[in-house]
Amino acid sequence: MIIAANLKTNLTRAKTLEYVNQVEKFLDANNISQEVIVFPAASSLNPHAGKVFIGAQNAYPVKNGAFTGEIGLEHLEEFDIKTILIGHSERRHIIGESQELIVQKFNFYSNLGFKIVYCIGEPLEVRESGHINMMAYLDAQYEGIDTNYDNLIIAYEPVWAIGTGLTPTLEDIESLHTELKKKSSAPLLYGGSVKVTNVQEVLALNNVDGVLVGSAALYAEHFCSMADIAQNLENLK
Ligand code: PGA
Repeated sequence: MIIAANLKTNLTRAKTLEYVNQVEKFLDANNISQEVIVFPAASSLNPHAGKVFIGAQNAYPVKNGAFTGEIGLEHLEEFDIKTILIGHSERRHIIGESQELIVQKFNFYSNLGFKIVYCIGEPLEVRESGHINMMAYLDAQYEGIDTNYDNLIIAYEPVWAIGTGLTPTLEDIESLHTELKKKSSAPLLYGGSVKVTNVQEVLALNNVDGVLVGSAALYAEHFCSMADIAQNLENLK
């Protein structure tokens, strides 16, 4: 299973260093073999060798250049980062990133062999407008994306479930994941208000290959508990 923490605009470099070291120690001490990824803020990237994969929350599709406020490939290479989050709903809806720019990023970083965690998800009004509309909305987020890319992980995160404490029902998550798996056989994560108390039931669903966690992952011990729960589930298989 894949257990990923999106730290968003939280944790300074010093705090991130502590966080990643704590997670790394836990994985080692508890023989956790699940894939664990942490996405720190851009200024909190540190070199890291170990079980935890460090990924970038965002980078511009360029090696370097005149793109004020952005980081490029060079900045990731400095820390040997080969994992990137693309298409997160906060970038789509708050920053206003278009599908076109998202595709440019996808193409640029997939050509370099990066592991890409590609996010899709619908706002509440889209979900409420009916299943056909919702699937059409999600389909549009696959436009231009190579769904057969080897190093692809998809994260389904309903926008209305992110940071709100709301989640779809377990039945909804399972049936949607089953439908989405027909579009791509890439590992499919669920994200949106996942926490220690619900991660087990989410991970136990068919066609859920892992979770992408925001707020509840901000405390290393909570994130570690989630990795532990994933490992225990895997051990039962
Ligand atoms: P949340 O965020 O866990 O705080 O809902 C998830 C995400 O945005 O990836």
